[in-house]
Formats: sequence, structure tokens, C-alpha cells
Amino acid sequence: MISRRKFLRNSAISAGVFSFTRDLAAVPAADSDIDSRIEILLEQPLGTISPNIYGHFAEHLGGVIYDGIWVGRNSKVPNVDGIRKDLVDHMRKIKAPVVRYPGGCFADSYDWRDGIGPVDKRPRRSNFWSDIESPSSPSSHKYEPNEFGTNEFIHFCKLLGSQPYLAANVRSLPAEEFYRWVEYCNAPSGSTTLAETRGAAGYSEPFHVRFWGVGNESWGCGGNFTPQDYAVEFRRFTTWVPRFGEELAFIASGPNDDNWEWTRGFLEEIVRKSPRQLREMYGLALHYYTWNLSRGRTRDWNEGKGDALKFDLVDWYELLRDAEVMDSLIKGHWQIMGEFDHEHHVKLVIDEWGPWYRPGSEATPGDILEQMPTLRDAVFSAMTLDIFHQHPEKIAMANCAQLINCLNSLYLAHEDKFCITPVGHVFDMYSAHQGGQSLRTIFSTPKINYERDGRPASFWGLKGSASVRDKALVLTVVNPSVSEPRVAAINVRGATISSGTVTVLTHSDIHAHNSFEERDAVRPQTQPLEMSGGTVTDSFRPASVTKIVLNL
Ligand code: AHR
Repeated sequence: MISRRKFLRNSAISAGVFSFTRDLAAVPAADSDIDSRIEILLEQPLGTISPNIYGHFAEHLGGVIYDGIWVGRNSKVPNVDGIRKDLVDHMRKIKAPVVRYPGGCFADSYDWRDGIGPVDKRPRRSNFWSDIESPSSPSSHKYEPNEFGTNEFIHFCKLLGSQPYLAANVRSLPAEEFYRWVEYCNAPSGSTTLAETRGAAGYSEPFHVRFWGVGNESWGCGGNFTPQDYAVEFRRFTTWVPRFGEELAFIASGPNDDNWEWTRGFLEEIVRKSPRQLREMYGLALHYYTWNLSRGRTRDWNEGKGDALKFDLVDWYELLRDAEVMDSLIKGHWQIMGEFDHEHHVKLVIDEWGPWYRPGSEATPGDILEQMPTLRDAVFSAMTLDIFHQHPEKIAMANCAQLINCLNSLYLAHEDKFCITPVGHVFDMYSAHQGGQSLRTIFSTPKINYERDGRPASFWGLKGSASVRDKALVLTVVNPSVSEPRVAAINVRGATISSGTVTVLTHSDIHAHNSFEERDAVRPQTQPLEMSGGTVTDSFRPASVTKIVLNL
């Protein structure tokens, strides 16, 4: 039996009554159809939603960097300084706040010095993932050409208006190399030899990198440490790192899933020296992949996985049930963190999340860990982001795994072909929440009942989140039912609505997805909110993600 760990080791308001029909035309819904209520409590703010929970993750893995992001300066693919232009344009549109790089497991085998200096002098190395690359994979996926390194990544971030988040190598490089990478990125122009090297490459001004991951999955591919041993490394790596005027934010490699022992063991060892050591830590990483769709039949990492495209309605609900687990992981790890960090100085950084299916649905055959995101993954992602909004005081950052051509991708690309996945559309819709005040929101709705392996099972009927910024209130709602619309009366206590819009992402086929051939099979549709006195009522279509923006 192969576990994931083993796998990695080895390798309101005013009035308006309306609804949508299947073809998205707005038609009035009768009050008698109402079966649900959504109550938004303006006077109960939960905290500010950090824009950084809308972060991304790009690893030197399969088609993420080469082909996905980097096409090269001389490519016929439209590019900005070698970076795919379509990608830059859409990431700017969704206000991508932060990108984590270069891994993932790759990070702990990477020497950052390989990726700087003149491109024709950079070495070619074996990629961490090369052993699982197929013989047909492009050579740049197996043997890292280092054409894309720190300079190119920082330039990519600049084009997007995003902050870089670099993950350092703890498993196979000494702490000194970590300090030197910080120096290369942040030392003032011309101040040190490394600053001069940076300047010679055309980047005289410092990169001002604030976020630094200290290793990745240090319980597995990042060194197979015990939590106690890793805590010692964390203390050593983060002690006396040159600041160069930056407020550095160190993110510790944290637990996978419900590994409470890791969180407890690590923090226990950190504070054993002195509770003041917590001051060196900005965040504790949490990784959560939804992968086991076997309904209890196996815990094997390969056998437990489901298919991205071939699934029935029980599989649909199974994935969404697993999305719910995120909420308990946030609460559980946060509680343990509080045992050691009473003031909760350290926040959660959920820097890898998303569904992980078995191989077979790749848009570009040969791209390892690439899968085809469908409407199911859009609903999953919307649910996850809604959960993040419930915990604004706990979560400082989150990074969907991964940005392009890998796992829960927002985008798929190959050569000159590019498309936005349903997940990418969710990030676009939900970007309106960034920086808003999260509001307590109560959903009252009938449950969904269905049969799971011969037994009755149920799932909630409607859920979502709301936030307000200036005079705009954003409500996002998921209807997980594969067949039933929900008609909800929406009430925002104590506010008057002047106007609004409704955006819906759905499809009559729960397997629907976008491809290079059919780029717009699943795309959001926006309509003005029709208001005519009374309460706002919306009919939430089956298998849908809805955003309602209300102008107060
Ligand atoms: O995202 C793919 C891999 O999953 C990452 O490299 C690793 O951190 C995780 O196990």
C-alpha cells in the first residue's frame, strides 16, 4: 500500500424578486417557491479577508513552468519577456496577490544559484520529478534547463502585480545558502557582490521579497524530519537572517492534512528554547489535498484516487464532502497552535490545496500531475474559498495547487493554446472578496438526500460567504445539488440596496469543462439584479456557484 507520504518520500435590503432559468434568462420567482433563507449580519464582522488567501503556486513540475508560464523570448506564442501573455493578462484581471515558487518538493532539491546569471551559462539538472516523467515528456520537464530562475520569476510577479513567496531548500542546502538567496534578492543596489550579480543581470533594484518558506513538506520529500528535528532546523535557518530593511515573513513547513502530531511536536520544540522564538515565525503551512474518493475502500495513494472526468453523482458529493474537511483542519490546527502561541501571533498559510485525481485526463498528454478541472472542481474551489472567509483571523495566505497545467489549475496551456478552467473563473468571480470585511452569514435550507453505497446520505443545501468593502457587499453561494434549484430569500439587516449584479457559473452537465477546442463551455454569466420592492430572492441553480454584488 502506498501512502502520500511514502509516494513523496520516494519521489439585503431592498426589493427584488428574480431567478434564473436553465438558459440564464432572468424571470420572476414566486414567493411560494422560497425554500431557503440567507441572513447577512452586517453588524457582525469576522475580520478582514487577506487578499493573499487568493494566492497561487507554481512549481518546476511537469508543464507548469516550461510551456505553462515560460514560453521563451523568441517564441511564436504571444509573450511578455518570455512569459505567456494570456496568463499575465488574466492573472492581472483576477488580482493575483502572491505566487509561491519554486516548489513544492522541487524546492528542497533546488540550488537557487543554478537559476541566475547568463542563461547560456546556467547548468542543466535532473528535476526532482524526473523519475515519474514519461519517456514522451519534453526534455525541459525531466532535465531542468534553468532558463526560468529567480530573476524571471520576480519579473513574472512584477508583471502580475503579485508578491513573490520563495520556498527555500532545507533538505539539501545549508542555512548559509538561504541567507545568500535573501541577500541576492533584497540587498540594496550595488551593496554586495550578490547585489552586483543581480544588477549585472539587469535587476539593479532589490526584489523586496518578504515571504520565505523554510522548506516544504519537511515531514516527507523535504527531508523526512521528525517535527522536533525540523523545529531545530527552522530555528537555525531563521536566526539572524540579514533583513536589508525588509520585514521578512518566515513560513514554517507545517502539517499535512490532520497530522496534529506534527503541529504539536513542532511548536512544542520551538517554544522549548523560548516562547520568543515564535516571533520569528509568520506562518505555519498546512497542506490539504482531497484525493481519496474510494469511500473507505482503501487508503492507498494510487488506488484511492478518483477520475477527474468520469464520475457519478455519488463521486460528485464525495469530493464536496472532502472539501468540508478543510474547515475542521483549520479549527483543529489553530486550536493546537493556541496551546503554544497564546496570542496567536503565528497564522495559518494553506500553501497547497485542491483535488488530486489519478492520471488520464491531461489536456496535454505527458504533463505529469496535470488533470482536467470540471464544474465539480469549480464548486469545490468556491466552497474552499468560502471556508477561508469564515476564518479571516486565522488564515494569512493560501495558495491553490497549482496555477497552470497541474492539479487544480486555473489555466491550461500548451504551445499557442490556452484556456481558463472553471476553477479560474471562480477565482475571477471571488476576487471581489479580497480585502473585504467578512460578515457572519446564516444559511437555512433543506438538506440534499441521496444514496451512498446502499445507505441514505445527506449533504447541506446551500452555503457560502459574504463580505463588505466600502459600499459594496459581495455574497457568494454554492448550490451543491446536482438536480435541485434552491430559491432563497436574502436579507441584509439594516441596509438599503441601490443596485446589484448576479453572476452565475454552472452547466447542465456536472462534468462540463473547458478545453483548447471548447474554451467557453463553462463560463460565468452576469446580469443586473432586478429589484422591485420586498426582499431580494434568488433561485440558485443546481450545481452552481453564484456571486451577488449589492451596492449599498
Ligand atoms: O503539488 C504537488 C506536490 O504535492 C508538491 O510538490 C508537494 O509539496 C506536494 O506533496
